[in-house]
Amino acid sequence: MVSKTSDISESTSIAIKIANELINSSEITQDEIFEENEVKMEVVNLSHWYGDNQVLSGISMPIFKNKVTAIIGPSGCGKSTFLRDLNRMNDLVSISRTSGDILLGNKNIHDSDVDVVQLRKRIGMVFQKPNPFPMPIENNIAYGPYIHGVKSDRIPAIVKSCLQKAVLWDEVKDRLKDNALSLSGGQQQRLCIARTLSVQPEVILFDEPCSSLDPHATAKIEDLITKLKQDYTVVIVTHNMQQAARVSDYTAFFNLGDLVEFNSTKTIFRSPEQKKTEEYISGRFG
Ligand SMILES: Nc1ncnc2c1ncn2[C@@H]1O[C@H](COP(=O)(O)OP(=O)(O)OP(=O)(O)O)[C@@H](O)[C@H]1O
Ligand SMILES: [Mg+2]
Repeated sequence: MVSKTSDISESTSIAIKIANELINSSEITQDEIFEENEVKMEVVNLSHWYGDNQVLSGISMPIFKNKVTAIIGPSGCGKSTFLRDLNRMNDLVSISRTSGDILLGNKNIHDSDVDVVQLRKRIGMVFQKPNPFPMPIENNIAYGPYIHGVKSDRIPAIVKSCLQKAVLWDEVKDRLKDNALSLSGGQQQRLCIARTLSVQPEVILFDEPCSSLDPHATAKIEDLITKLKQDYTVVIVTHNMQQAARVSDYTAFFNLGDLVEFNSTKTIFRSPEQKKTEEYISGRFG
């Protein structure tokens, strides 16, 4: 068990309580948990520089298929950089440079024959602040399939199914032609998730998707993420320890550009192997 010291903040102690509650009575070993899973992506010795500033140092970890992997760590430790490396979003930053490999299936995403547009279709991303297109709700979903050449008569069904998967359909079905900006923040974020689903990704990256949302909207997104893992592989950056404990199966703790510990979420919160991990999750720094 993670020890409960007197300086643990309330939210952190709730996170530890949740994690401990999540630990069921089964006595499956850590190795068995890892072996049971199919690897969707494999990060191998990934380093990242912005100019001369190295912000990730030799990160290696698997990303398991149909699981939620949480990335946690103090501000500036490289979480978003890591996430954006997974679908080469950092290619858009001119001073950005990486070394190491990122495998999607058996293919290195850095290979010269990888089509980055197709890669980002396979690995979608949802950002911290909801960013719907300022256009009708339905067009937000239709846009991706349309530009990827889906026939127009198939698009209404895609719009409906993506909005249903994002648990938004019932709230917007009578206002599909309204501007997406008229939705609440939580609805906008679910619309952005529906938009990501519209091009049938295999992996969905979430960068602090709830940080601008109230607790009610946050709970809806967390429920949704838990459902999404049935069909997709999910990686989520979060500052919220309770959220990591609630939604993720695996957790990677980053500090100062290093991967300090990757493990099942239960182990990270119950009995982390590294002292630094325990210090972080129990609120002693960061
Ligand atoms: N486009 C960029 N150009 C130069 N430096 C950058 C760029 N983006 C991030 N950095 C630097 O890289 C380091 C890691 O940043 P990153 O955004 O990945 O951290 P983070 O862990 O996501 O932080 P936070 O929790 O605050 O979102 C920081 O020092 C940051 O200033
Ligand atoms: Mg970040």
